Amino acid sequence: MRELFDIRDRVVAVAGAAGAFGSEIARELAARGCHLSLLDINEAGLEKIVSELPESAQVHTRVFNAIEEDECESALDECAQRWSRIDGFVNCVGAFKIIAAEDMTRRDFTQVLETNVSAALSMCKFAARHMIPRRYGRIINIASVSDSVVNPGYAAYAASKSALTHLTRVLAVEWAPHSITVNAISPAMCETALTTDFLARSDNRATAKSKILLDRLLEPEDILGTVVLLLSPGGGFITGQAIHVDGGRTIS
Ligand SMILES: NC(=O)c1ccc[n+]([C@@H]2O[C@H](COP(=O)([O-])OP(=O)(O)OC[C@H]3O[C@@H](n4cnc5c(N)ncnc54)[C@H](O)[C@@H]3O)[C@@H](O)[C@H]2O)c1
Repeated sequence: MRELFDIRDRVVAVAGAAGAFGSEIARELAARGCHLSLLDINEAGLEKIVSELPESAQVHTRVFNAIEEDECESALDECAQRWSRIDGFVNCVGAFKIIAAEDMTRRDFTQVLETNVSAALSMCKFAARHMIPRRYGRIINIASVSDSVVNPGYAAYAASKSALTHLTRVLAVEWAPHSITVNAISPAMCETALTTDFLARSDNRATAKSKILLDRLLEPEDILGTVVLLLSPGGGFITGQAIHVDGGRTIS
């Protein structure tokens, strides 16, 4: 039974690792004995996460901008060189802009799509190029319940997350012949640097909480069990799925 969820010595690259979800995932994977490459645009944030990990943690960091395709390529190549392989890739990079549709500029819309969808394709692609020759890989994109539910002001974010979830399914189809699984985790609202301003405005916090059946916002640690499952032997037959970790948000 212990081997079902054993991910010791797995090499996992986490993008967006300086953020709330990414850093929580990094801490959990380090505790489980993974070799980690932590990637983010925020150098100080990466240094802080590493300083909080145990000295025994096997960790490498790389600053990159996920919007730039060549930076995605060199960052993922560096991970593969550092550890001689990439077993898993977790994409926690994200942008969140909530603006009424009549006020949303093409630039606002495109920036969210670039970060949440186009950059995801680049990162997954360059991770997969190291997985395909080894016929092994696990890829996880952090999407959102906004891939399914609809809220006012969410034109860019909801369009980007439903696109990310569907992109995940297409990649799962393309890379299944190489024994690579590709899944999304779709969490409910959580208070992080991304959402603090939004939650502080008018009654957004109360409204968000009222739509979650388990009657609280998500905490970053709530997604860890699903991340470990999807990276572990026990999750090896799951692919092309968007697993909603949402306290019942999508059925409310
Ligand atoms: N917080 C929520 O309520 C919530 C809910 C569902 C899904 N999500 C999704 O989870 C993911 C992580 O969100 P979070 O709440 O941890 O946010 P966060 O802001 O704490 O973390 C996001 C990280 O991505 C990094 N990043 C942003 N743009 C980048 C770029 N161009 N290149 C490299 N790194 C970049 C940031 O520096 C940051 O460290 C996002 O995709 C978000 O949409 C968040």
